[in-house]
Amino acid sequence: VTLSPYRLRVDGQEHRVVDGRLGDSLLRVLRDRLGVTAVKEGCATGDCGTCAVLVDGTLVNGCLVLAAAAAGREVTTASGLSHDGGATDVQRAFAEAGAVQCGFCAPGLVLAAHELLTRTPAPGDAQIREALSGNRCACAGFERVVEAVRRVAAGRSS
Ligand code: FES
Ligand code: FES
Repeated sequence: VTLSPYRLRVDGQEHRVVDGRLGDSLLRVLRDRLGVTAVKEGCATGDCGTCAVLVDGTLVNGCLVLAAAAAGREVTTASGLSHDGGATDVQRAFAEAGAVQCGFCAPGLVLAAHELLTRTPAPGDAQIREALSGNRCACAGFERVVEAVRRVAAGRSS
């Protein structure tokens, strides 16, 4: 089924999706139609978290969400978290803690960490692990990621 043209707002930019199909995932439309390569594709089955984006501030896996369901909402990728074009404190902490190696998982992990710290400014380790449990990283090791989130929480409270 081909849909009527609809609008997607991604990182503050308006896009118009023409000839979209009903079953198109948000991941497919972002990457293939709109060229938003900040969103990575891993498993495409909801298991790795590399395709994570925020839709109106809620963390979702782009491969599991229909693109048309995000029409008229605010989609945010890891590239859109910073309002001044620089790195956010979360992105800096990931780099400083050595939590980014190949970087493939980083956008999804950064978004998951950002979302956690927005709703829970001082998370405990169990909350950090729970919040990041949907994201896989094959390189850096999870401890470094947890350490990065601890650093951000400590930095924001000091
Ligand atoms: S690509 Fe979406 S969860 Fe893996
Ligand atoms: S840094 Fe390579 S998968 Fe996480």
